[in-house]
Order: sequence, then structure tokens, then C-alpha cells
Amino acid sequence: MLLHIPQVLSKQQVAQLRQQLHAAPWQAGANTAGAQAAKVKHNLQLPQNWPMAQHMAQQVKEALLANPLFVSAVLPKQLLLPLFNCYQQGGHFGNHVDGAIQYETMSRLPVRTDVSTTVFLSEPDEYEGGELIIEDTYGSHEVKLAAGDAIVYPASSLHRVEAVASGQRFAAFLWSQSMVKENSQRQLLFDLDMTIIRLRQQLQDSAEVLALTNHYHNLLRQWAE
Ligand code: NI
Repeated sequence: MLLHIPQVLSKQQVAQLRQQLHAAPWQAGANTAGAQAAKVKHNLQLPQNWPMAQHMAQQVKEALLANPLFVSAVLPKQLLLPLFNCYQQGGHFGNHVDGAIQYETMSRLPVRTDVSTTVFLSEPDEYEGGELIIEDTYGSHEVKLAAGDAIVYPASSLHRVEAVASGQRFAAFLWSQSMVKENSQRQLLFDLDMTIIRLRQQLQDSAEVLALTNHYHNLLRQWAE
């Protein structure tokens, strides 16, 4: 599932984050990548132990968890703390897959990466290039969103960030472990949830809408872990 979630962060929240990002101690992103990804990762990343980064990450995480579309699409069980990155001066991240297991910074507990999320923190006209390219069974998708918008995609997909020829591309990204491991099952639940919401607007809480809501929850009960 590839889902665009508009306005996860308000323009004011983005402006505040951007102010903090400009004063941040950036490091080479390859430091935190696995062996395959490190070879193709050419960007800057904020050290996770920088106190301000933790504060900003918490803010992004809370905004996502408060977003009904995100919750319906991801069915989050555990969210890793978002990381912040910057691409500039030709910076790019070649084709790679994200590691299946990441460890939580504090607890060091393993988290299965089911869903990846990128929250854009630069407006598309602030930089040239820098498209996020996601490959799935339907082909190759090019993503470049307004600041504050997010894209949710399966962590299992091959992806890359094209070179930023000019300007700066700031973004936050994070991995989530979902209650529903299977991408296709998550997609079914999301589609069903969206249909129920639209039906409820037309029919209010009719017996049929209630029955369909019951089906949704019974499916979720069967698939959630
Ligand atoms: Ni990646």
C-alpha cells in the first residue's frame, strides 16, 4: 500500500522543526545504515542521542499517532522514533531495502519493520530532484510532497531518493511494526475501513453499517497479533 497522508504536520509545526534543523549537528547518514545500504547512502542525518532530535522525533510520532488515516493504514503496534535527514549538493540514497529488524534506541528491543513513513519537511519548490522512488508490483512510483505531508509504504519495497541537484530536502522518516504483518491484509482492512466511513456518512448507523463494522473488527481480531 502506498498512501499519501496530507498535513500530518501543520505549516507552523514544520516551520518550528525547520528552525531547529538548521541549528542541528548533522552527521553522515551512512553511519547508521546496514552494509548494503551504507554503500549507496549519501545524505546527512541527525544523531539520535542529540536531545533536541529526541524532542522533535516525539512531536512527529505523536502527530502520526493522532492522524486517523495513518492509524487505519498502519495499525501500529510499535513505532520507532523518527529520524531526520537532509539531502543537499547532489546527496542521494541509491536503491536499497530497509533492514527487516531495527532495534529501539533506548530499550534495544527488536522491532519488525513492516511499514515505512516519510514526512516531508521541505516544500517541493525548495529543491531540485530529491524524489522518493518506490518500486512495487505495479511499477515505480515517484513521490515529492508538500511540507507536512507524509507517504506510507511497505518497508519491504525497494526504494531510493534521487539526487538533490540544488536546495535542501529535509525529511523525517520512521519504521513501524504493524499489528497486521501482511501488507495485503492491512490493505483490505484499510479499504474496508474507508468504505465504512463513507457509508456511515450516507446511511448513519444503520443496521448494515453496524454489521459491516462488526466484520471489520472480527477480521482485525483474527489478523492482529
Ligand atoms: Ni530506506
